[in-house]
Amino acid sequence: MPEQMPHSQTTPSPTIVLSDAQVAFYLKNGYLALDAITTPDEVARLRAVYDHLFATNAGREDGNQFDLAGTDEEGKPAALPQILGPRRYAPELNHTLYEANALAIARQLLGAEANFAGDHAIFKPARSGAPTPWHQDEAYWNPEVDANALSVWMPLQEATLENGCMQFIPGSQKQEIIPHRSIGGDVRVHGLELDADIDLSGAAACPLPAGGATFHSSRTLHFTGANLSAVPRRAYILAFAVPPTPRTDGRRFPWNEKKQTAGEARRKAASTSA
Ligand code: NI
Repeated sequence: MPEQMPHSQTTPSPTIVLSDAQVAFYLKNGYLALDAITTPDEVARLRAVYDHLFATNAGREDGNQFDLAGTDEEGKPAALPQILGPRRYAPELNHTLYEANALAIARQLLGAEANFAGDHAIFKPARSGAPTPWHQDEAYWNPEVDANALSVWMPLQEATLENGCMQFIPGSQKQEIIPHRSIGGDVRVHGLELDADIDLSGAAACPLPAGGATFHSSRTLHFTGANLSAVPRRAYILAFAVPPTPRTDGRRFPWNEKKQTAGEARRKAASTSA
């Protein structure tokens, strides 16, 4: 065994093909859970890379690491730290079996034109991680287009109800974007929550082993609870999309226009000084 296994420079071939029943389940319910999307070895390697990114505050100065659920002032511990585009700071996150399988499955679910559309990492600290309130991902994005996207959520340790596994409202992907607002109505907070009275009683929780994954559409309502466990809950998320469909109805997402976050201020300062 070499001292350090080099990461592969070429993307591995996918090893998973969804059954017709799995594709049908996703199209009906707007989500799908798989017990394994990569190998235990790759999970262990990714977890080390991931922990290093958070331990070194990767992306903080650029505005690409920020608190999803708090006001994110300097020196204040983040309730729910998130890194957008972590592979910018860790090229070892490229060329994974996780991504190869996620892309192949995304093409089964969205169509052959589906391609990688971004990655992010959400770290829920032990015994302190805030819930990620119910939301639709498309509510964060460009209101002028239908996103035609899905997200793949892989935990780097077991994900349970206690530490904040994913929960979904089956069939909720079939509706338009519901009104959202910044969490708690505080425009300093990046994270969104529903700003409407929605029946959430039919939620389906998806506990997973480390290296399992859930898939959900950009319109599926989803939630993760607080992390009540003694260890951090790490999730590494990949997004895939087919080309978006322009809208002609002048749709707007006023909740994003109102936001004034510290992370966005850091991003602007970094881009003007570059
Ligand atoms: Ni989400």
